[in-house]
Amino acid sequence: MLELKDVDTAYGSVPMLRGLTLSVRPGELVCLLGPNGAGKTTTFMAVCGVVRALRGAVEVMGKDIGRLGTENLAALGVGLVPEGRRLFPGLTVIENLRLGYDAVSGRGPNFETQLDKMSNLFPRIRERLRQVAGTLSGGEQAMVALARALIGEPKFVVMDEPSLGLSPKLISEYFEITQEIHRRGTTILLIEQNAEMGLGIADRGYVLVKGKVAQEGDAKELLSSKAAKSLYL
Ligand SMILES: Nc1ncnc2c1ncn2[C@@H]1O[C@H](COP(=O)(O)OP(=O)(O)O)[C@@H](O)[C@H]1O
Ligand SMILES: [Mg+2]
Repeated sequence: MLELKDVDTAYGSVPMLRGLTLSVRPGELVCLLGPNGAGKTTTFMAVCGVVRALRGAVEVMGKDIGRLGTENLAALGVGLVPEGRRLFPGLTVIENLRLGYDAVSGRGPNFETQLDKMSNLFPRIRERLRQVAGTLSGGEQAMVALARALIGEPKFVVMDEPSLGLSPKLISEYFEITQEIHRRGTTILLIEQNAEMGLGIADRGYVLVKGKVAQEGDAKELLSSKAAKSLYL
């Protein structure tokens, strides 16, 4: 689903990712951990093709992202949940979800059917469908951002710190939904700082420190590893 091979990126003359190699296989839930400034969002942006790889390769669903183009990811079956949600604050919840649906082209079930599915998965947003997104609570916005990514039935979802700013209760709810989506067969790359929660539901994990993979492996082993703890946890 995703392969980064020996990827370097930079902001201007400042190197950021350095030799990043990371993969996500079909059916996996992989957690990318790392402290603030480690390069997690840069990795997300490299996967989207917004930040270019200066060296190495970024392949999404077997396609080189540079050649594919960011705007074609949705139609290929990739759902994105960017850091900070990035909803359209002046549009209603339905309009935000409609944009997610339309990005995936006309195939599959109609919008009303998909809207109903999303309302069942996120009961909290059912009563909010006609509300302007900018007036929702943080938790509701997080759910809408996830629903917008899921409404086109993606095969692969990439999430950048979706739990940031949520209350502990909402974080649990959010992770349960993420786990449920994974159980239903969706492949997920979950970018997180909350190691206990992220590795708790993941198959494998990577710890990113200063633009490099400092440790990787089975999620349960990472969670109990002393080396990983001293690096980051
Ligand atoms: N657009 C940008 N221009 C210059 N530097 C940036 C830009 N975006 C991020 N950075 C820097 O790159 C480093 C990694 O940032 P980021 O990938 O956002 O980290 P994380 O998501 O792990 O917190 C940070 O030092 C950050 O300040
Ligand atoms: Mg970030």
